[in-house]
Amino acid sequence: MDTGSEDSRPMDWMVNSRIKNLVALVVGGGSGMGEATAKTFAANGGKVATADLNGESAARVAAEIVKDGGDALSVRMDVSDQAEIDAGVQAAIGRFGRLDILVNTAALVKPGLLEDIPIDEWKRGIEVNVHGALILARTCLPHLRKSPSAAIVTVSSLAGEHGYVRGGSYGPSKAALTTLTRQMALEWAPYGVRVNTVIPGTIDTPMARAAVRLEVLQSRAAKQIPLGQLGRANEVADLIVFLASPAASHITAQDIRCDGGLSHGMFMAPMGGVPHAPQRST
Ligand SMILES: NC(=O)c1ccc[n+]([C@@H]2O[C@H](COP(=O)([O-])OP(=O)(O)OC[C@H]3O[C@@H](n4cnc5c(N)ncnc54)[C@H](O)[C@@H]3O)[C@@H](O)[C@H]2O)c1
Repeated sequence: MDTGSEDSRPMDWMVNSRIKNLVALVVGGGSGMGEATAKTFAANGGKVATADLNGESAARVAAEIVKDGGDALSVRMDVSDQAEIDAGVQAAIGRFGRLDILVNTAALVKPGLLEDIPIDEWKRGIEVNVHGALILARTCLPHLRKSPSAAIVTVSSLAGEHGYVRGGSYGPSKAALTTLTRQMALEWAPYGVRVNTVIPGTIDTPMARAAVRLEVLQSRAAKQIPLGQLGRANEVADLIVFLASPAASHITAQDIRCDGGLSHGMFMAPMGGVPHAPQRST
């Protein structure tokens, strides 16, 4: 199966798990970590609905999954629009008859300084990254409650922990998303729905490349990330799929970082980076 990356990392490492035949809705599934997550679910026997603001991207990912022998459909969905969420969830239920897993990787990054960011842009970031995460999850909740293997995974950011200069509402929205995820976990634990968030470091995706040139990302990674290189979408997807799977049955209300050590790398730069960081082979 095409992993959408240059490496040969195997995607079917959970092929004998109970992911087989579970149904996952992956919102933001048309690109980057969402695309890798949708393909990893499918490679392990799950059925997938890909949803994205970019309907063509969502359709491309679903078509690639089907071409590789998986079961997938796609919908266009703006995660901040209740009517589009309703239609997308209904499409998934109509096709697969159930929903076990929700993954939300969708996010809006709109650069801006706090002193003069247009308030409409500020609000839009909160609307997509926080409000959207809530209305999406609670629309899925009645279906997830029927599943014995229900799980939600959101994707937050280190920007929500450390601040992100010129990031507009992105950092504050991600801080809110991390807390929102924890609150969903606590309120929905009695329903048997596990909810966790993944906090990526710097991952080589279209979003990261749109914000900063690849050469700059790589040179920063060599200096600041203890493992010495950018993360890949597949590496985050593996964590998301694990957390969403029955293999993580006792894990909820957690925020788990996949960052090559970046969040604890504050002493790396003064020492000149990571001279002996090994290159990964997969
Ligand atoms: N790439 C990184 O370095 C990095 C670091 C930390 C956190 N993140 C987070 O990881 C997640 C995935 O990012 P990525 O790097 O894979 O980005 P990406 O741009 O490759 O994918 C994000 C997808 O979300 C979709 N999307 C945007 N707004 C949407 C909306 N309103 N409704 C539905 N879909 C929408 C986009 O069309 C896109 O397909 C995001 O939540 C991002 O904030 C990324």
